[in-house]
Amino acid sequence: MPLPAQLLADPLPAEPLALAAEWLALARHRADQPNPNAMVVATVGTDGQPSARVVLCKEIVVDPGYICFFTNYLSRKGRELEAHPRVAIVMHWDHLHRQVRIEGRAVRAPAAESDAYFRTRPWQRRIGAWASAQSEPVASRAALQAAVVETATRFGTPVPGPEDDPAQAGAGEHIPRPPHWGGYHVYAETVELWLEGGSRIHDRARWTRALRWPERASATDETARPIIAGAWQATRLQP
Ligand SMILES: Cc1cc2nc3c(=O)[nH]c(=O)nc-3n(C[C@H](O)[C@H](O)[C@H](O)COP(=O)(O)O)c2cc1C
Repeated sequence: MPLPAQLLADPLPAEPLALAAEWLALARHRADQPNPNAMVVATVGTDGQPSARVVLCKEIVVDPGYICFFTNYLSRKGRELEAHPRVAIVMHWDHLHRQVRIEGRAVRAPAAESDAYFRTRPWQRRIGAWASAQSEPVASRAALQAAVVETATRFGTPVPGPEDDPAQAGAGEHIPRPPHWGGYHVYAETVELWLEGGSRIHDRARWTRALRWPERASATDETARPIIAGAWQATRLQP
């Protein structure tokens, strides 16, 4: 079903993330793509080299204004974020003719939040989180499978198959979160919303705000020393 032509409100909304969350909810509702919450996350290496990959957006939290995703803290992106927390994110829904761009800084989610989310994951994925040293080289596919078998044996579960087997539901519910796996909160400093317009006259606006970022922000810092955000300033941009 085609979407009605839409424009950003004029004057612009005071803050952008509620609208971004609405667009994400709409994409999820329409289910036109297998992973409507897929987003590209770009990080920067210590040599200044950007790298980008797709991850799943777990949530957009409008107040205080961050995007949450989960990953391996020792992966390339994890190591880059620990050294340099600046992040750029792109979400794109082709069929909705919309794009969201976010720039900001990432901090680890509190451990209790990562624990709670890990508990909701199917046990086969919990095995995967322990078995895969994400981003590290592996000698062969067989060596990776051997790591999966070793992990399943260690936790006393069946070996996960290519498909989830309902008969094995709950087999590994006791598997705890690995310390190297968890969430990041990307606090937004800049958000750009883009809507496709007729004749390529797209509708585009950017919101910016200042973040007070505690030095060496870490999971504990986020709860002990909250990140304070200033008010959003909105600007309409030429397409
Ligand atoms: C649709 C899709 C969803 C993905 N979701 C995640 C995710 O939520 N977390 C994650 O760590 N990797 C996810 N990946 C894999 C990443 O793209 C990437 O291969 C992996 O995180 C390693 O990246 P790095 O070596 O740059 O750290 C996903 C890939 C695709 C294609």
